[in-house]
Amino acid sequence: MNLHILKDAGAVARAAASLIAQKVKSAEIRTLGLATGRSPIAVYDDLSARVAAKELSFAGITSFNLDEYIGLSAQNPASFHAFMQRHFFGKVTLAAHHLPDGMAADPAHEAQSFENAIKQAGGIDLQLLGIGRNGHIGFNEPGSALDSRTRLVTLSDSTRSANAPDFPTPGDVPHSALTMGIGTILEAREQLLIATGTAKACAIRAALRGPVSADCPASALQLHALVHVFIDEDAAALL
Ligand code: GLP
Repeated sequence: MNLHILKDAGAVARAAASLIAQKVKSAEIRTLGLATGRSPIAVYDDLSARVAAKELSFAGITSFNLDEYIGLSAQNPASFHAFMQRHFFGKVTLAAHHLPDGMAADPAHEAQSFENAIKQAGGIDLQLLGIGRNGHIGFNEPGSALDSRTRLVTLSDSTRSANAPDFPTPGDVPHSALTMGIGTILEAREQLLIATGTAKACAIRAALRGPVSADCPASALQLHALVHVFIDEDAAALL
């Protein structure tokens, strides 16, 4: 793994955005895997500013997001669709963008269609990832099989309470989601993991230094040949 420990969250966002920008500019990537959560917001802000300054264009890029809550429409402000619209899609032009549809009548069919769309686009060149406090990537909670594919999953209590601030009341957090699987994520040709803050220090230690185990889904990244890790000093505190 290419591990970069940076001073603070601002430095992490700048470094991650610079890596993405350089690969988009050089046409090294055509497909980009995107993530939601608080961690990537500053990355999207940085990339959007480069687009506004006409230094960068995503017009040739097709994106695939990791996950979406079950039961939330794109219009629901707490959905990942709405998150992406606010922080990125509303500010940049992409060739196409895909998220799993949390309102699909048949989630298993939707999961398969999402996998097919990734394949048709030629696979994902670079996948941006955050990490949950319990080591989840996408919504692959501890216990997820390392070869899992896009599917319907049940969210853990820890994940539901971590994401509760995005909802009017904690009881509004959905209990399930559609997520790319760990196997799906590992097929991306390059990985870019970002994490900041002391709340992520345990998960980062388990992911980078622990055994490869379903107990920490992010530890599966140790099996991948090309992983860039950008974390701040707080997230690196237990390494
Ligand atoms: C989620 C997302 C993950 C994300 C994680 C951490 O719920 N499904 O993709 O990496 O939480 O989020 P944050 O960056 O807000 O800590």
